[in-house]
Formats: sequence, C-alpha cells, structure tokens
Amino acid sequence: MPVVKVADYAHPGGWTQGTDPATRAREYCRALEEGSVLAFDGIPYELSEEDLEFLRSQRQSASRFHKNISYRPASDTVRGFETGAQEEKNRLQEIMRNFSRRTVDLVTALLAPYAPHMRLDYASYRPFEEEGRDLPLKKRNDLLHVDSFPTRPTRGSRILRVFTNISTEQPRKWRTTPPFSELVPQFAEDESLRRILRGYEGPLAGLKRTLLRAGSAAGLPLVDRPPYDAIMLRLHDLLKEDSSFQENTAAESHDFQPMTTWMVYTDGVGHAVMSGKYALEQTFFIPPEAWVAPEAAPIRVLEKHYARELGA
Ligand SMILES: [Fe+2]
Repeated sequence: MPVVKVADYAHPGGWTQGTDPATRAREYCRALEEGSVLAFDGIPYELSEEDLEFLRSQRQSASRFHKNISYRPASDTVRGFETGAQEEKNRLQEIMRNFSRRTVDLVTALLAPYAPHMRLDYASYRPFEEEGRDLPLKKRNDLLHVDSFPTRPTRGSRILRVFTNISTEQPRKWRTTPPFSELVPQFAEDESLRRILRGYEGPLAGLKRTLLRAGSAAGLPLVDRPPYDAIMLRLHDLLKEDSSFQENTAAESHDFQPMTTWMVYTDGVGHAVMSGKYALEQTFFIPPEAWVAPEAAPIRVLEKHYARELGA
C-alpha cells in the first residue's frame, strides 16, 4: 500500500501558497480511491492540549462488550463510555463533537470533490492498547480485514476513515494487504459468497427484502442489505477466519507516528492494527457520484468479477 505524504496542506493555514488546490484535491482523491494512504506529518486540524490530556487520561477498562467509544454526529451522542461522572461524559461529548466537525472541515478543504456528496458516519475514540486485546474473532483488529458495518450497509458507497494517533509515545502499527483487486480473485469464488449471491435470486428473494425493509421501517432490528453489503460483510469475516491468508499474504507494515493524522479507504485497503493506543477516528461514506476513480471501488471490482449488478 503506497503512503502518500501530504506536504502542501497543514494546520494552521490550510493549503500552502502556490499550490493549485483544485488539481491537488483531485489527485489526493484519486490516490485514496486507488488504495493509497494519505499521511500528514502532524495533525492538520485544531486539537487543544487540554482536550488531548483529557482523552489520554481516560482509564477505561478494556471491554469485550464495547470495542471503543463511539460518537454519533447526527444525534450528538456518545456510546461505550462506562466510567466517570456526568460532567466527564459531557466533556467527552464536546471533544468528540469538535473533533468530528474539524475532520468535516478538513475533508471539505482537502478533498473538495467529495464535499457536496459525502455522508458523515460515526466517529470513535480508541483508548485501549490494541496489542493483546481479548476480542471475539470477528471483532479483532489485529487480523487483516476490509471494513463493512453490520448495522450500516453502504449500498456501494465507499468507507473513508480519518485517523489521528494522539499518543505522545507509541506509533500505531498497522499491516495492510495487497490491493482489493488482488484479493477478489483469491476469495470471490468461496462457496459462502456464492451462496449469498444465490440468496438474492428467485421469486422469494424480492419478497424477503420487502419484508426486511418494512420491518426495519417499523423499528425492528432488521437490516436490508443489497448483495454488495452482504458480500462485503462476509468477506470481512472470511479474511479474518483464513489463518493461511493471515500468515502468508504479502502484508506490508506501517508505523503511524505519535501526533499524526492519516486517511484511507478501509473498504478497499485490507488492514490490521497490531499495536498502539489513543486514536481518534471519523468515518465518511463517499457515494459513487463523488468518485474520481470509479473503477477502483470495491463494488465495481466485485461487479466485474461476478458480471452482475450488486448495489440495488
Ligand atoms: Fe477495520
């Protein structure tokens, strides 16, 4: 996975004088969509020392129940924060709200083609040491996987994530897989994926989805997934379950240094977090109308392989 250093945008000030933001923004979008990580030497948005201290002082006990602390911008709510007084919770909520807004400003300025179309998903704070965490297989971060969210099908939109390592000491150590287009020939003919596709064929499939949609609209905990999301969700698990792939694939190692930010499409770049703690993250859904390199999108790669449409 190539790492592209962003040397012409920083905080404060934004774009360096003399750069052509419109051209550079398109180049950065393309690099991301084609599987690069964009990495900054520092943190390209405002984050005060008091807020950083507060976040690092959270002595949350690592839990199997909550993978991290999540923030939902649409409802302005924090989940997974178990300890502390209401005052602390309010402070955390305020910090997460500000962090979320600043990453929106960052993406809007740096990746302008996305701004009119992007959809803001959850943010998270990850205070736990990732090395040696006791999590169920499907939730393990240290196994290579592509991202797919069980409760939030993207219907083909891409998953862009902005990470900041706020540790002052430890790098955040990642491993990444070869490109998505190379994973597909390895996994796409797995019987479990073929079975999923067959489940979307035949007269009863449409009826089943109509009922799922109705149930979901009525507030039941049901999710209607287009074939794309069902395939990606299974692929997420399939990669984690495959010990030979985990051990033998040509994964690259990357150390994201303390007090730096990076962004990556985690639906297309297979990744694992091996160690590190204290990371902030904001997720965006980027729909097809915003893409600069549509042929690199996982949905397009999968549609080409299966020779069928997967997003509806
Ligand atoms: Fe992930």
